[in-house]
Amino acid sequence: MHQAVLDKIGLNHTYGALLINSNQDLELFFDMLKISSVKGVNVTVPYKESVIKYLDTLDHSAQNCQAVNTIVNNNGHLTGYNTDGRGLVYSLQQDVGVDLLNKHVLILGAGGAAKGIAYELCNHNLSSLTILNRTKEKADTLQYGLESHYKLPIYTGSLTIDESTIEWERLHSADIIIQTTSIGLMGTPGSPLSNVSWARSSQLVVDIIYKPYATQFLMDCSNLGLKTVNGVGMLAGQGALAFELFTDYEADYLLMRDIVEKTAKDVI
Ligand code: ATR
Repeated sequence: MHQAVLDKIGLNHTYGALLINSNQDLELFFDMLKISSVKGVNVTVPYKESVIKYLDTLDHSAQNCQAVNTIVNNNGHLTGYNTDGRGLVYSLQQDVGVDLLNKHVLILGAGGAAKGIAYELCNHNLSSLTILNRTKEKADTLQYGLESHYKLPIYTGSLTIDESTIEWERLHSADIIIQTTSIGLMGTPGSPLSNVSWARSSQLVVDIIYKPYATQFLMDCSNLGLKTVNGVGMLAGQGALAFELFTDYEADYLLMRDIVEKTAKDVI
């Protein structure tokens, strides 16, 4: 998607993938990066946190969640950003016209992806944010960090739900539910929640997984008539924001989205 926009604008740059197999190789990579003409780097699992020690500056987006997905190289001075959360919000605004003002938003999961999304969501005047995670302590730690920066009500809970639990009630009353756990990724079976009895047809459900195109969770919600969104837009959105940091040119979100969408629809 990056190369497509570079080519469209006519910028003489190349975007490519690099597989780094060990932390030792990661260190060598940064030694090289600093003396290279490489403009920027995207980082993915499992290095989003471990790259931080090689960077000179962290933008507040990366500082807050202590995870980096974008690095800009300014003559050897490396700045880390996190465009994941902003990419998701951007895509929801562009693709489904979401307005986050006064919304009750609920996140499933409290891992790296959830962190970036949670910090960004708190910039949008929500009514409340709820974080449910299998390991509730991780949701509590994220809540603690968020509360030191933001004033909105933040609730946490586990993924064990039945109609008598507060978690079920929070799911039922949420306007937007964002699934960030790895369940369903690359076709792994299962769903983060044992049932969808909490669902209401006016709810928007987002699953940040883009491959498969629709997870079991998203299909269960869609079958009940809820509006659903997969992770294609978030991937394109984070990429578009990274592109603009790398090049100072406006990205073409729709072109990037189109390319991601085609890839996501390919059979696994
Ligand atoms: P990522 O960077 O993709 O978010 P991660 O930081 O490893 O990856 O986080 C994975 C998330 O998926 C976590 O919220 C994890 O829950 P725990 O904190 O309890 O580990 C969640 N997850 C992964 N496998 C799960 C499963 N089988 N059931 C429930 N949650 C699961």
